[in-house]
Amino acid sequence: MIYTEKDKKFKRYTVTSALPYANGPVHIGHLAGVYVPADIYVRYLRAQGEQVMFIGGSDEHGVPITIKARKEGCSPQDIVDRYHTIIKNSFAELGISFDIYSRTSSKEHHETAAAYFEKLYKEGKFIEKTSMQYYDEEAGQFLADRYITGTCPHCGNERAYGDQCEACGTSLNATDLINPKSALSGAKPVLKETKHWFLPLDKDEPWLRQWILENHKDDWKTNVYGQCKSWIDAGLQPRAVTRDLDWGVKVPLKDAEGKVLYVWFDAPIGYISFTKQLKGDDWEKWWKNDDTKLVHFIGKDNIVFHCIIFPSMLHADGSYILPENVPANEFLNLEGDKISTSRNWAVWLHEYLKEFPGKQDVLRYTLCSNAPETKDNDFTWKDFQLKNNSELVAILGNFINRILVLTHKFFGGKVPVKGELTDLDRQTIAEMALYPEKVGRSIETYRFREALAEMMNLARLGNKYLTETEPWKLFKENPERTATVLNIALQVCANLAILCAPFLPFTADKIHAMLNLPAKGWKDAGGAELLESGYQLAQPELLFEKIEDAEIEAQVNKLLETKRQNELNAWQPASIKEKVAFDDFGKVDIRVGTVLECSKVPKADKLLQFKIDDGMGGRTIVSGIAKYYPEPEKLVGMQVCFIANFEPRKLKGVVSEGMILSAEDKDGRLVLITPSQLVTTGVNVG
Ligand code: 2FM
Ligand code: ZN
Repeated sequence: MIYTEKDKKFKRYTVTSALPYANGPVHIGHLAGVYVPADIYVRYLRAQGEQVMFIGGSDEHGVPITIKARKEGCSPQDIVDRYHTIIKNSFAELGISFDIYSRTSSKEHHETAAAYFEKLYKEGKFIEKTSMQYYDEEAGQFLADRYITGTCPHCGNERAYGDQCEACGTSLNATDLINPKSALSGAKPVLKETKHWFLPLDKDEPWLRQWILENHKDDWKTNVYGQCKSWIDAGLQPRAVTRDLDWGVKVPLKDAEGKVLYVWFDAPIGYISFTKQLKGDDWEKWWKNDDTKLVHFIGKDNIVFHCIIFPSMLHADGSYILPENVPANEFLNLEGDKISTSRNWAVWLHEYLKEFPGKQDVLRYTLCSNAPETKDNDFTWKDFQLKNNSELVAILGNFINRILVLTHKFFGGKVPVKGELTDLDRQTIAEMALYPEKVGRSIETYRFREALAEMMNLARLGNKYLTETEPWKLFKENPERTATVLNIALQVCANLAILCAPFLPFTADKIHAMLNLPAKGWKDAGGAELLESGYQLAQPELLFEKIEDAEIEAQVNKLLETKRQNELNAWQPASIKEKVAFDDFGKVDIRVGTVLECSKVPKADKLLQFKIDDGMGGRTIVSGIAKYYPEPEKLVGMQVCFIANFEPRKLKGVVSEGMILSAEDKDGRLVLITPSQLVTTGVNVG
């Protein structure tokens, strides 16, 4: 910590970000919750000259991956290879500056996780328990976690999983589910005996209570502290750390055939195994020295694992440090609806990067300024456009561009010499000096939205200074004063280049290049002498471009189409109507007729007027299907089914003598019913 005196001084920082499951690409919810804040934090620490290690990687085990592989008819390895590559590349393109981005299917990880388990096993840190677990007799397999579905006993959701109900967020045991079903075969599972190893979390309660509820009362976020408190107060239970599965890290014991480590046991060990991959023999100090600060960036669904279970694993080993902080975020919604991979309700990072090339910082900015730090928040495309056009373009980009253009126009692109200072100059310089601390303090206390807003306030300060000094009007009359104003304004630009870098690294690089500013650290920021007089600046280029309505409409339409598809996928046949007697059905006279003429009913958008040959001299029928048959004349000659004994009724001035039958498809489209072969006009249907 640099600005918050309460904290002790750390020598190095181990910063981890949740390992995303490699069974799908990452979306804006992941970014706003975990990766953008984590990246801001580490970029800031590096700018402060601190030793930092930023760990990321793919979580490649767990049942959702094997289920997906089964569905697609490929191996789990194929699935994780595909998504690991997509995720890794898209993170890199967004500028998430991991020091390593590895994977839990790697050999090194398997060795580290197995050794971790083995050590705890040998030291008697687990309880061995035989229990009854669900087994699918058709598939010949135990049904761990998501392999079993059923009704949640808490909220009645019929699609709850064996480990969790996503509707109410409750963590479950498979045996809690009502009407359990195998996700493999759909069969009703049976209970069968199996042996597993458990971490006795109940024994950890006293020190967990002290460590979290006492020691971290003031510095952990309220949402994180609150979740931990309710887990601890509810009474911790022993937790199984192995599973009967064939995909994962094999349990390194003789009598453990067909068993792997539970994904939530092996995944956090990934942070350690990736450190070993990165640092080699020098890895231990990043995990075992008291002067290392360990911080986990995660989403709120990971709180219990990072604040209770993983710390219990670290504590059981005994040689590791515990996290100093776990700044978990809440969830980001999209256009008012929960982000969902299965419903494709998301903005996928790899698609964004393709559709908005060169606009990485716009997404980083929007997600940070809207980050769900204290409550769930909403991303909308309109807001994305507004943040770009009214903040990045109008405040930051415009300020820097104006100064550079004026310096080139009046002083040939050389930093002009500062003359005598006015009160306004002194005040602006003094205010500017406060920003590194303001922004830094907010970042160090994980208030990234506030930090970003402060950085933008520095740009606002620059704009205000320009509005008050109007250098563009001044030059003719007073070139010396213009020189002073531009010198000071250029110092604001140089400060912005440093202070915006954690949030907007691509923009920071561009400003550095335009100013020819040598790399400067956070400690240099605040000064009014960052650019020396006479220093030659490069040509200005626009930092941000306006985003047009059409681009936003295209994105909104894409989501509307997703919504439409979801509705179609959710379609189910209507429930069967009340039973009807055969004689009653016989009262309806349905016949086949041939279309003789067909045209639109004037002044009635929905109606078509048919002239039907009914074998009895013909009749007129009006039908509300105009929207689905835009070229009615093409229906001439077609055979249709119609009800012949309806009372005639007048529709828009035309008397309709019956009703033509059509089917309503799941998207609401009406389709005419026609015999599968030509039949005699006027015959009965029944
Ligand atoms: O929730 C998730 O996406 C998990 N894959 C996070 C794992 S974090 C860590 F412990 F590896
Ligand atoms: Zn539930």
